[in-house]
Amino acid sequence: MNVLVIGSGGREHALVWKIAQNPEVKNIYAIPGNGGICQQAECASIPLTDFPALIEFVRTHHIDFTVVGPEQPLVAGIADAFRAEGLPIFGPGAAGARIEGSKIFAKELMQKHGIPTAHFGTFSDYDAALKYLRQLPEGPVVVKADGLAAGKGSVVCANHEEAHQALRSMMVEKVFRNAGEQVVIEEFMQGEEASLFVITDGNDYHILHPAQDFKRALDDDKGKNTGGMGSYAPTPFVTPDILERARREIVEPMLHAFQQESIEYRGVLYCGLMLTDEGPKVVEFNCRFGDPETQVVLPLMESDLLEMMLAVENGNLNRYRLQLKEEYGVCVVLASGGYPDAYQTGYPIEGLDEVPDDVLVFHAGTRNENGRLVTAGGRVLGITALAPELEAAVNNAYLAVEHIHFKDMHYRRDIARRAVNYLKATK
Ligand code: AMP
Ligand code: GLY
Repeated sequence: MNVLVIGSGGREHALVWKIAQNPEVKNIYAIPGNGGICQQAECASIPLTDFPALIEFVRTHHIDFTVVGPEQPLVAGIADAFRAEGLPIFGPGAAGARIEGSKIFAKELMQKHGIPTAHFGTFSDYDAALKYLRQLPEGPVVVKADGLAAGKGSVVCANHEEAHQALRSMMVEKVFRNAGEQVVIEEFMQGEEASLFVITDGNDYHILHPAQDFKRALDDDKGKNTGGMGSYAPTPFVTPDILERARREIVEPMLHAFQQESIEYRGVLYCGLMLTDEGPKVVEFNCRFGDPETQVVLPLMESDLLEMMLAVENGNLNRYRLQLKEEYGVCVVLASGGYPDAYQTGYPIEGLDEVPDDVLVFHAGTRNENGRLVTAGGRVLGITALAPELEAAVNNAYLAVEHIHFKDMHYRRDIARRAVNYLKATK
C-alpha cells in the first residue's frame, strides 16, 4: 500500500512515523515534508490547495490513501475533491471542516445543540461589538476573529481596554484581513485546558489519550502564544469522571449535531476543552490533529493508526479495536531563538546521533542542506519520551534535549510540571 501524508510539521512527522509501522505499507510520500520526514518518505512540493495537481500526483504514484495534517486544505475542501475522484482520504469535507474554519459556525452549532461552551456574542459591526462589550462586567474577556488566522485570531484580554484594542485591530485596522470581518466576543473561562482527539467515521468514535499542550513561549505560561512549545498525555486533569462527562455532554452531542445538520464528519474532531468548576466546556473545535499533541498521542497508541484511518474512511470504525499504552508521553519542542517573532534559520543541528534510541525525534522546521541538517522554521524539533510514570517521561525527554544543539535554541523547561506536582499531591 502507498500512502501520502500532506503537511510539513512535527505532527506530520509523527503521522509518517506511525503509519510506517503498518506492515502493508510499501511507499510513503509527503507533500511538502521536512528534513526528518524526507528521510523516511519521498517528498514532493505542490501547493496544498492545488487539488488537481495533488490528485494527479496521487494517480501517477499509485497512492492508495492520503492523510491530511493541517487545516487549510481541509477547510478548502481537499477531502471533497479527492472523494469526488474516488480517492480515499483521511479528514472531513469542507462542510465538517467549517467547525474550525468559522468560529461563529462552531459557536452557533454548539448553542443550537446545547453543548457547553463560553457565553458569547457575534458581530460584524464594530459599534455593536463595542456596545456588547460595555454591558459586560469589567474583567477578562476573549475576542476572536471568525476565520482562519494562523492560530493568532484569538486574543485573551485582561480587561475591557484590551478588548477594545483587539476589536479595533480586527474590525477597523483589519490585521487579519477577511478573518476579522466578523468577530466573537466570549466569556473568559478559567481552568486547565485539555485536547481530546475524537476519531470518528460519522457513527462510531474512539478517543485517544487526553493531552495538554503549552501554547506560550516562556515558562510558567509567560510570553507570546506560539504553535505549541510542548505537550504530554494522558493528562491527569482529565479524570475518568471528566472524560465521561465530556463524552456525554460534548462528544456525543457534537457527533449527533453533525448528523442532524447532514454533515458527514469523517476524520478527527479535535475538542479543545476548558476544565471549569462547572465541568468541561469547549474552547474550540479543530478538524485535524493537534501539533504538538500528536507527537505524544500517537506514540501512546498500541494499535495500528493506518488501520484505524482506513476504518474511518470505510465507515467501519466499529470493527476497529483501539488499544492505548498505559504509559505517559512528553514532548519538548526545541524552537529557534526569537520565535514566535522573527528568527534566523539555516543553523546546523548537532547531537541527534547521541539521543537515546528509545527517545523519538520529530522534525518540524528542519531541512537537509548539502547533506547537513539545518534549522528551517520557528519550531525545529519535538523530542518525545515515554515512561510508565509521568515524571520519568519528563526527565527522559529533558535528558535527551541536553544532547541537541543549534544556535539560539530555545525551549521551555516546565513541560508537564504542573501535572507532575498534581500527581504527587493527589497520590
Ligand atoms: P482558540 O483560537 O479558540 O483556540 O484560542 C486560543 C487559546 O486562547 C486557547 O487555547 C485558550 O488558551 C485561550 N482561550 C480561548 N478562548 C478562551 C476562553 N473563552 N476563556 C479562556 N481562554 C480562552
Ligand atoms: N496544539 C494546538 C493546535 O494544534 O491547534
